[in-house]
Amino acid sequence: MNKLNKIQQHYSSVSLTYNDFFSDSYRQWVVDLIIESLALRSDDIVADIGGGTGLISHLIFKRVRLKNEVLCVDPSDSMLAEIGRLKGVKPLCMDAHDFAEEKSGQYDKLLLKGMVHHLADRISLWNKLSERMNENGRLLIVTRPKIPSLPFFKAALASFSAGQPTSGLLVEELEETGFQTEVAVQSYSVYLEKRRWYHLLQSRFMSNLYDFTDDEIEEGIAELEQMYFDKNVIKIRDDLLFILGKKHRSELSDSLI
Ligand SMILES: C[S@@+](CC[C@H](N)C(=O)[O-])C[C@H]1O[C@@H](n2cnc3c(N)ncnc32)[C@H](O)[C@@H]1O
Repeated sequence: MNKLNKIQQHYSSVSLTYNDFFSDSYRQWVVDLIIESLALRSDDIVADIGGGTGLISHLIFKRVRLKNEVLCVDPSDSMLAEIGRLKGVKPLCMDAHDFAEEKSGQYDKLLLKGMVHHLADRISLWNKLSERMNENGRLLIVTRPKIPSLPFFKAALASFSAGQPTSGLLVEELEETGFQTEVAVQSYSVYLEKRRWYHLLQSRFMSNLYDFTDDEIEEGIAELEQMYFDKNVIKIRDDLLFILGKKHRSELSDSLI
């Protein structure tokens, strides 16, 4: 199976349960940070690329009281299936590159959350997206560091890292395509029942787990159990990177006046 089909299959297998993987408080925490980082205003035109089930788009729409619906762009019709129920979100079943090549529609703010690791040919995408952004537009990538803080078993950690670009590389790419960048790391910590964490791994709540067989997941859990055998509750810390691209670089001067 090629990589694209695999990604599609993964998301169609988790689409029905995807929203349950994350808590309301986690989502609210991340939405507040997105709003701040994108400096969202009620009259902004916003697209959420790889927006999945659209819940984040919906929460942003409500919190900012946006005047226009958020366009939720995603190639997975399964992920988009329930979006009709969410106020303020308009689904578009499309890959990021195809969206970037569309001729009509300009955007003030673009969000790419939890999806940058799925993108091929990113430089070309940043260039095309930049053309679809209004002056002073902002593009925000929300992702995890190449070495994530989540307590994965070793093989899952390796599969995550293998598919994840570094923040340095993303910054370099955005700068090369004319964006001025800012990077922040934000951490969310929660005490979770160990069984719940194991259940998330068994449900393959993240795409790096897709390739593992049931037996391999159980072996991974047995590996974690060596560390957690005397605990019912474990601390989970999720470090998220907020990589912001501002469309216009302020003019640099090499003289004082
Ligand atoms: C981990 S989910 C994140 C969903 C949502 N952004 C969130 O944070 O809840 C990744 C999403 O990226 C989408 N995706 C994968 N490849 C993509 C591509 N080439 N262009 C746009 N979206 C893509 C998947 O279909 C999936 O819905």
